[in-house]
Amino acid sequence: MSDKTFLCRQTELDENGGVFKVPHPVEQNITIVLIRKDGRCFAYRNVCPHFSIQLDNAQGRFFTYQNRYIMCAHHSAMFDIETGLCVDGPCKNHSLIQESVSEDEQAVYLSHGQT
Ligand code: FES
Repeated sequence: MSDKTFLCRQTELDENGGVFKVPHPVEQNITIVLIRKDGRCFAYRNVCPHFSIQLDNAQGRFFTYQNRYIMCAHHSAMFDIETGLCVDGPCKNHSLIQESVSEDEQAVYLSHGQT
């Protein structure tokens, strides 16, 4: 059985390139980054594989590059938005952990269980 949990309203996500952070609805002390690219929503645990810390800086700001990469605020690792793979930086070839999401006209949801 599949299940889903609300993450954010569609209006909270930028159409292209803006990164939005929400608390993980199931796991404590974890946040999820949501980013829309070319109409698709991608979601990752906000944990850099380099030092297992959040990708955003102390002010909660995320950095992107050319609308193709999320850049870790700490040591500039560059992660492909569509795959989560680090293509440059100290954790090259490691990946962000992807979360499964679904969408409808109103909102984005975290998917749980079998689909
Ligand atoms: S903690 Fe992300 S690149 Fe070092």
